[in-house]
Amino acid sequence: MLNFSFCSPTHFEFGKGTEKETGALIARFGGKKILLHYGGGSIKKSGLYDRVTASLRESGLAFVELGGVVPNPESGLVYKGIELCRKENVDFVLAVGGGSAIDSAKAIAAGAVYDGDFWDFFEGKTIEKALPIGVILTLAAAGSEGSSNSVVTNEKTNEKRGCYGEVIRPLFSILNPELTQTLPHYQTAAGATDIMVHVIERYFSNTKEVEITDRLCEAVLKTMIYETPRVLENPDNYEARANIMWAGMVAHNNLCGVGREQDWASHGMEHELSSFYGATHGAGLAVICPAWMKFVSRVNPAKFIQFAVRVWNCQMNFEHPEITVRDGIEQFENFLRKIGMPSSIKEFGAKEEDIPKLARHIGRVSESEKNFGGYVKLNLSDVEEIYRLAL
Ligand code: NZQ
Ligand code: ZN
Repeated sequence: MLNFSFCSPTHFEFGKGTEKETGALIARFGGKKILLHYGGGSIKKSGLYDRVTASLRESGLAFVELGGVVPNPESGLVYKGIELCRKENVDFVLAVGGGSAIDSAKAIAAGAVYDGDFWDFFEGKTIEKALPIGVILTLAAAGSEGSSNSVVTNEKTNEKRGCYGEVIRPLFSILNPELTQTLPHYQTAAGATDIMVHVIERYFSNTKEVEITDRLCEAVLKTMIYETPRVLENPDNYEARANIMWAGMVAHNNLCGVGREQDWASHGMEHELSSFYGATHGAGLAVICPAWMKFVSRVNPAKFIQFAVRVWNCQMNFEHPEITVRDGIEQFENFLRKIGMPSSIKEFGAKEEDIPKLARHIGRVSESEKNFGGYVKLNLSDVEEIYRLAL
């Protein structure tokens, strides 16, 4: 196991009706003037907006609001949010929604107290400070409710980039599984895929003897394999929604990733599909991740045997372990198709001739050196090959 630091101080309020605690929680964390930040209107349709604003009023908190966050959030609205926070002396940012509303809120919170352009953070500048952030989660997927990351798209350059900073980790997150019952089938399935791939990015590691994190990863994956079909069959299944919601948090606050090398090539490749074709993040991963598996398992099959046997209950073929490897990947792929995820990047509009552009646009991939990803280090032609396998 490698040395690590782990500090994940977000306060979680989990369960039915917990959004009623919003005002009290913000007051407890010192907020007085709030920016209420949300997406395209699902929270108004569901009645959540009314309950949240009532809770803010009951706690005597003043607020301004900014809706309109689009999936794969864009920098334009972040600039607007920063301006609004400064003009209105906002001292606390509340995100209500999925990963996009949360990530946009994190970028606003960091940008509002920074003299330069907030995009600097997405080009590697350290985030020194940010306004405090609270979250009400409506979609189990990105894990942003417990993570210290934000992912934003610069719509002018099509760059979808991430930034990192402990100061943008939410102070509290309200997780009421009932709020996810209004999600469409596709969004629930894409969210489940994202959760699974957050674990896979950590599971496929060359670090030896990390049994505890291996077993945590396997537990989250098995939970998702069990609960996702149940929730798709019956969207009102509270218990299944609850297990998925907590799995989404556990998958990405790095509990499953400490002490081990991680991969993240699939996420890097998927971000290009989101930024160029507007692919839903989880749906993009559903195509890219199995393609990545097919490619890297040829070079480094070891962990794929464990994945097949422990996660998918495949029979170990001692004479032909490559068959066990193939079975595990096939089981994963079949699961994704069964829950309604796409099987080709063509479904997002990608064409064979786009592939060199997609691979180059990632930016961090070298033509000569193998330096991208962790489990197997990839160069530009490897990445192109993976996109081709995903066609
Ligand atoms: O905008 P509204 O009207 O709210 O509708 C949203 C949106 O259209 C809808 N939705 C959300 N909750 C709903 C609902 N519809 C009905 N009922 C509900 N309860 O779902 C749509 C998608 O929402 P979005 O927030 O975009 O989805 P998700 O949570 O999957 O977030 C995706 C974003 O998170 C980033 C992704 O790259 C993508 O930009 N990620 C962020 C990470 C992080 N910060 O740590 C890590 C992830 O790997 C991921 O990259
Ligand atoms: Zn993700």
